[in-house]
Amino acid sequence: MSRRTIPLTLGYVVEVAPRLEGLRHALAALGARRVVVITNPTVRDLHGAELAGELGALISHWHEMPDGEAYKSLDEWATVLGAVLEGRPDRDTHVLAFGGGVVGDLAGFVAATALRGLPLVQVPTTLLAMIDASVGGKTAVNVPQGKNLVGAFHQPKLVWAPLSTLATLPEREIVGGLGELVKHAVIEGEAALAALEAVAPGLARQEEIGEQIAASIRTKARIVETDPWERGCRAHLNLGHTLGHAIEAVVGFGELRHGECVAIGLLAVVRLAEELGWAEAGFSERLGTLYGQLSLPTALPAGVSSASLVRSMGFDKKRERGMVRLVIAAAPGQLSVRSVEEPALVRLAELAGASA
Ligand SMILES: NC(=O)c1ccc[n+]([C@@H]2O[C@H](COP(=O)([O-])OP(=O)(O)OC[C@H]3O[C@@H](n4cnc5c(N)ncnc54)[C@H](O)[C@@H]3O)[C@@H](O)[C@H]2O)c1
Ligand SMILES: [Zn+2]
Repeated sequence: MSRRTIPLTLGYVVEVAPRLEGLRHALAALGARRVVVITNPTVRDLHGAELAGELGALISHWHEMPDGEAYKSLDEWATVLGAVLEGRPDRDTHVLAFGGGVVGDLAGFVAATALRGLPLVQVPTTLLAMIDASVGGKTAVNVPQGKNLVGAFHQPKLVWAPLSTLATLPEREIVGGLGELVKHAVIEGEAALAALEAVAPGLARQEEIGEQIAASIRTKARIVETDPWERGCRAHLNLGHTLGHAIEAVVGFGELRHGECVAIGLLAVVRLAEELGWAEAGFSERLGTLYGQLSLPTALPAGVSSASLVRSMGFDKKRERGMVRLVIAAAPGQLSVRSVEEPALVRLAELAGASA
């Protein structure tokens, strides 16, 4: 597969590349003379040697954070920031995030805050980080009050997505990423969804995944370009997330990957929209078929109550005067945001398979 370059009007490009090879050249073109790598032991063990071989003496330091969402924390931010500052960075020191979304979000926040902003390069190594977390400039850590509540907008100078790293990614992580990939295709429209359907059976193992990843990044890029500060249509990216976040909180992190929760949330919201006459009939059935081919779950595990999900959705950041703002897909490419009241949320949870 050859490299695909996706330019953003925000001033950087996303390179979907077969390997890490070529990254050195791209960094040189940016004028980077010193790079500090932030990663974790899992990614470094699997792919660190290849990165070291590619970048050579350009790398001045490696900083490892422990693996896991629990370390996307203020404590870890302070530790990594301190380590970066110990290396006496200057304004040209590039922070390179090498890993999944957890590394990307934390390293991005370190880059946003060190010396009031160091140049950031995202090298995502999970499907989710490639198509979602690394693009768009949102950086964050989690705090006891909630996920991603402390952070900054800090656009990267370059995103380099090396497809070869996906070969070592556990199947479950691929499936999670596919949840967000379906979401992007639904947001994009009929042609994108049909193209995904055409290659869906066994997609994770196929050559076509590179093209699908590039398409997915183009969708995310288009939306964040239009609305970099999340004041308007960027909210469409929350499709499936109101229920998805509630499922994550109630079912517990670990049992279902984030993208799987989003997939369940997306399908339920389309089912609700069909019931209320807002969506075209047959859309949810079509999505269900696609999910089957991609090994995505179509419903919750048994024993999750609708009350617990509704309670969790009530505390969603998008709440407004007793109503919850829900992103609706009426058809591929036809998105809207509607305020709904509690009964609709109860039905939404039921349509995801929650018990009364
Ligand atoms: N900034 C944004 O816009 C944005 C968007 C979506 C998600 N996020 C954030 O992204 C995070 C989730 O990202 P994620 O799903 O990548 O999870 P993750 O970063 O935890 O990665 C999942 C697991 O895969 C491992 N891993 C990474 N690359 C690997 C590889 N090539 N081979 C084998 N194992 C590998 C990781 O070490 C980890 O154990 C969440 O914290 C979420 O909030 C941010
Ligand atoms: Zn998401």
